Amino acid sequence: MGKDVIVACDFGCKEDALRFLDHFTEEKPYVKIGKELYYAEGPDIVREIKARGHKIFLDLKLHDIPNTVKSAMAVLSRLDVDMCNLHAAGTVLMMEAALEGLTRPDGTRPLLIAVTQLTSTSEERMRRELLIDRPLDEVVMHYAENARRAGLDGVVCSPLEAAEVHAACGKNFLTVTPGIRFADGQIEDQVRVTTPARAKEIGSDYIVVGRPITRAADPVAAYRRCVNDFVG
Ligand code: C5P
Repeated sequence: MGKDVIVACDFGCKEDALRFLDHFTEEKPYVKIGKELYYAEGPDIVREIKARGHKIFLDLKLHDIPNTVKSAMAVLSRLDVDMCNLHAAGTVLMMEAALEGLTRPDGTRPLLIAVTQLTSTSEERMRRELLIDRPLDEVVMHYAENARRAGLDGVVCSPLEAAEVHAACGKNFLTVTPGIRFADGQIEDQVRVTTPARAKEIGSDYIVVGRPITRAADPVAAYRRCVNDFVG
């Protein structure tokens, strides 16, 4: 599977998102639509960006009882997204139900990726609030293995974890990695960041890049720099 750069379209409304995408007259970047834009505009924003020729990663991080997730995934599948995700904390049973819902009558389906532990969750909070005593990286790898066992295609993780995930789950198990910054760029609120070139070395399959592209003076140049450094 080819490596790609996914642009996080974290905008609050359709006008801002489309104005940003209008910069791209040659390339059609893979676009991530998250909760903010999706809840503001609904499924039409997915159809509209898809109709412009972009692949879509719909980042809604589903987590519910298996039957509800299965039905919701069937809806996302009909929406013709290319990639979607859920929380591995929903258990193997929920992940299997999600895959079932996502699979179209002709056997095709979007890629399904699991969120292991959100990078905003600290080991200390997991222990104190969630009563999860194991080290964070052990929990992340265990959740990744659960996702693989359930038949999912990969996980969202830090690029720094990509090599370990591939070692545990196989090289074809996808790692989709945010937390990407240029060496000469702003880190903002991210904590553990990696450059596109380093993410490539560690073995990420997809990098997810938001502000370094969306807030760049020249978004197309920033996107091309990511592609050049990551895909080569
Ligand atoms: O602007 P920036 O490059 O930091 O955007 C990263 C994107 O990846 C955002 O949409 C953010 O919500 C998402 N993300 C993340 N860290 C995670 C999971 C998702 O930054 N662990």
